[in-house]
Amino acid sequence: MNETELRVLLAELAASLFARGYAVGSAGNISAKLSDGYLMTPTNSSLGRLDPVRISKLDLNFEHVGGDKPSKEVFMHRAVYQARPDAGAVVHLHSTMATAVSCLDDVDQTAPIPALTPYFVMRVGENLPVVPYYRPGNPAMEPAIHAAALGAKALLLANHGPVVSGKNLIDAVYAAEELEESARLFLLLRGQRVRALTAEQRAELLGHFG
Ligand code: 13P
Repeated sequence: MNETELRVLLAELAASLFARGYAVGSAGNISAKLSDGYLMTPTNSSLGRLDPVRISKLDLNFEHVGGDKPSKEVFMHRAVYQARPDAGAVVHLHSTMATAVSCLDDVDQTAPIPALTPYFVMRVGENLPVVPYYRPGNPAMEPAIHAAALGAKALLLANHGPVVSGKNLIDAVYAAEELEESARLFLLLRGQRVRALTAEQRAELLGHFG
């Protein structure tokens, strides 16, 4: 896919996320890797109304080289790309259910959502670390995100929201959607006896789809 096609796809997927309530206002940011750098949503832009030609461009050193001023969370995306060389895209949302889970104090901060369904394991993976709270745009969170992303495709920023990577843009968006729906299921079932997937069932999924 060339840069123009990727710009159009990014705007389309962002608008779809916005239309379904995964992002509101100007919350959230999305990036995608190019051969010569990265596309990044502009700061304070609505995911519902991105103009493909104004999407920011960063060079391979994450310096702004084109389009509107990039998201204040460039370092968050950089941390994930540097930890995960196979990542082709990163999606950060404030989607309600995953953000709700990021606020829970009484869950395992290395695995706050149990593996209830196959698609959670297949798309999000087994690890979902919670990174301690930092103010949005605070570059001090970069080392913590980098460390968490070394062992996980997706993570939750405490009291803030999910950060999800994928091998390409569609994969990252699908994983972000699956994470949000898994968080919804988890919250729906809280307090009830649930049957999570066993280690054997999870291993079978990762063997087939990992
Ligand atoms: P930007 O508008 O700078 O991308 O910030 C939005 C956001 O989601 C902060 O976490």
